[in-house]
Amino acid sequence: MKQPTILILGGYGNTGNLLARFLLQESRASVILAGRNKAKADSAAAELNHSFEGNRASGLALDASDPQALVAAIEGSALLVAASSTAQYAETCARACLSAGVDYFDVQFSAKKVKTLRARSVEIKNSGRCFITEGGFHPGLPAALIRYAATQFDEIHTANVGSVIQIDWAALDIAESTVIEMAGEFSDFDMHFLQHGRWKKARMDIVMDTLKMDFGAPFFEQNCMPMWLEELRPLPAMFPTLKDAGFFVGGFNPVVDNLLLPLLMLIVKIAPQKGLKPAGNLLLWGLKRFSRPPYGTRLKLEAEGLKNGESARLELLLSHEDGYVFTAIPAAAAILQYLDGSIRKPGLFTQGEIVDPKRLLEDMQRMGIVLQA
Ligand SMILES: NC(=O)c1ccc[n+]([C@@H]2O[C@H](COP(=O)([O-])OP(=O)(O)OC[C@H]3O[C@@H](n4cnc5c(N)ncnc54)[C@H](OP(=O)(O)O)[C@@H]3O)[C@@H](O)[C@H]2O)c1
Repeated sequence: MKQPTILILGGYGNTGNLLARFLLQESRASVILAGRNKAKADSAAAELNHSFEGNRASGLALDASDPQALVAAIEGSALLVAASSTAQYAETCARACLSAGVDYFDVQFSAKKVKTLRARSVEIKNSGRCFITEGGFHPGLPAALIRYAATQFDEIHTANVGSVIQIDWAALDIAESTVIEMAGEFSDFDMHFLQHGRWKKARMDIVMDTLKMDFGAPFFEQNCMPMWLEELRPLPAMFPTLKDAGFFVGGFNPVVDNLLLPLLMLIVKIAPQKGLKPAGNLLLWGLKRFSRPPYGTRLKLEAEGLKNGESARLELLLSHEDGYVFTAIPAAAAILQYLDGSIRKPGLFTQGEIVDPKRLLEDMQRMGIVLQA
């Protein structure tokens, strides 16, 4: 049987390279590592071929902004994975997939990208293609965890997911495009969460709508801010008894949180396009200069509801020392479900709403995520 090929845009980047590793480890698929630097793509592919049998990795020079090159590159592949900081080219990628008859998966966090894909959702469905957006850690996992929690109650009432991500940014090589993309997303940070059955925009003045969550040692209790994720949108319709829910994110470090992020927002407000690069560089400088150990990534679910007529509570804590591994593992676990056909169907979906959450958690643990219930 012919094994599928997956073209990974950003395949030699931090997320893309780890994702390629997990896909080679967990499946028989071949991967094409694509990006604008052919030498980096080839050398990353050679490293993977050294680690995994079958010579299943190859490198390719490809710019996501080039529509013809994209179509030519993905023809013959089953899936295009956008693990690149190319959310601004979502339209180009979507059109290329539709024209070449290839499915689509991305790990990008971008409201504009979601809007772009939503505008094509009917065409995606009618063409029989499966598009999965907002894959990875966050976006990607919070709605899946809440859907899992719902299976553990007779009635679910509350389900909050929080995260701590402490990364040694100074040790990382991050593409300028990624830094610019991050600045763009922080500049219009959406802070909606579900309160008493209605979506509410968080207040950040005297009455701060933050959530305190205890992530255990070494991070302990953290003050987390609401962060809207597209995958949360369908939850109230899926679970009408769910009245309070959301995703809440912990801070980077005090200098970035209290000084540089407000400054970044101001810069991008004054100069929406030209300000992105200096704002992004300021953010990266702050992350590299002021991030301190302990490093690690945690995702916690706290849910409440009714079970057998009595109040019940569920807590899950997922952890990994490396934030990028914690991004690649859920994306790989979701793609495994796509590859075996169990979740593949025509249309546009978020990872959080389409995956089988129980199997996702099991596969993630096999790949190295630690789960404490
Ligand atoms: N869902 C989650 O949990 C999660 C977590 C972390 C990151 N992310 C997202 O993942 C994406 C990648 O982040 P990262 O930190 O892994 O970035 P990174 O290490 O900086 O890698 C970015 C990759 O994108 C490639 N790229 C950039 N522009 C391109 C273009 N025009 N055409 C083709 N390739 C291009 C870069 O290669 P060249 O510049 O050489 O072309 C590089 O390989 C971002 O969108 C980020 O927001 C999601």
